[in-house]
Amino acid sequence: MTQKMTRREWLVGTTTAAATGIILSGTKASAQSFMEPNINPTAENPIRAHLNENVYGQSLKARKAIAAAADDSHKYAFGDIFQFRALMAKLEDISEDHVGLGAGSTEFLEKAAVFNAVQGGDILLPVPTYGDIARFSRTLGSKLIEVPVGDDMHINLNAMRSAMTNNTKLIYLCNPNNPIPSIIEKTALKDFCNEMSEKATILIDEAYYEYVDNPDYESMISLVKENKNIVVTRTASKIHAFAGMRIGVCYAHPDFIQKSFGLFTNTLNLPAVRGAIESYQDIEYQAFLKQKNKECQQIISAMLDDLGLEYVKSNANFIFFNAGRPSTEVADIMKKHHILTGRPFEPYTNWVRLSLTKPEEMTYFTEKYRAEFA
Ligand SMILES: Cc1ncc(COP(=O)(O)O)c(C=O)c1O
Repeated sequence: MTQKMTRREWLVGTTTAAATGIILSGTKASAQSFMEPNINPTAENPIRAHLNENVYGQSLKARKAIAAAADDSHKYAFGDIFQFRALMAKLEDISEDHVGLGAGSTEFLEKAAVFNAVQGGDILLPVPTYGDIARFSRTLGSKLIEVPVGDDMHINLNAMRSAMTNNTKLIYLCNPNNPIPSIIEKTALKDFCNEMSEKATILIDEAYYEYVDNPDYESMISLVKENKNIVVTRTASKIHAFAGMRIGVCYAHPDFIQKSFGLFTNTLNLPAVRGAIESYQDIEYQAFLKQKNKECQQIISAMLDDLGLEYVKSNANFIFFNAGRPSTEVADIMKKHHILTGRPFEPYTNWVRLSLTKPEEMTYFTEKYRAEFA
């Protein structure tokens, strides 16, 4: 442990395994090294189960590219951006003019809210859901039409149809949803998109797309090719662990992409783009992360089943469960154990959103949770 690492070595992970005795995952893990699970958390270094991050961090290939890019970061990233855009188009089998890039997917949520507000449109959205587009729309003075999720905790498309006004110009659907990690059944969603896109732009936020393992789920990118009024957003902040690097991708009709172009900065962080080019091609690492996420889901579901607590089956890297007491109380107590859990989500204030971090950390969580509440 006394071995010294240079900052660059740390970044690319070359000596990390040797220096800390860290796991090298599986036989084919191409020397990917991981920080140890945090099973002795402290106030300064808590278990971060509150923001749906990927606590394993970026793929080693991405980290190497990011570190190497420091030498080039006095340059604008235009060439790399074109390369990344081409890659994102190829991966989804769509033409490049349907692809927009941003510093995180929040950029697209913001721009969609701006376009809607400029037209004086209402926004229709479920509640609870990811809050940014509602926040932007409120700030811009748009009218929000918020439709509660159904009793089954799924987004209620029929109720949304009924709530639509003549002035609704933007519909936001987060799929999987957040904080409730439920999905919208693919055929019902396609029907809804085909029907409602005649009246409004539909933005489908697929931030957690990579984690879904559910035959009822389908991305709506296929609709983007045919339909001018469908926008799909993705992010590198989740499975790719780029939350602090800021890369988002938008799939939409070239008109929307062009219109967005007029509002975006249209340049990105060069190390982030170089890293993303590697990350999106590192299928092996993504498979590893999905496997670990599944293990986390199993650990938490087993505890919740055992304690008889209600929860929504996770289709993402977080779970939502009814603690039977205010989530703020759970958060305060778990914080004493140096575990951070999600903030309260109205009206489900007894429900806890717990990010699925690493299996070992989830086991640690279950031990503390049982000791406190079982
Ligand atoms: C559903 C959803 N959309 C978008 C975002 C924002 O992502 P980004 O980091 O790409 O701006 C988040 C972040 O938690 C999210 O949960």
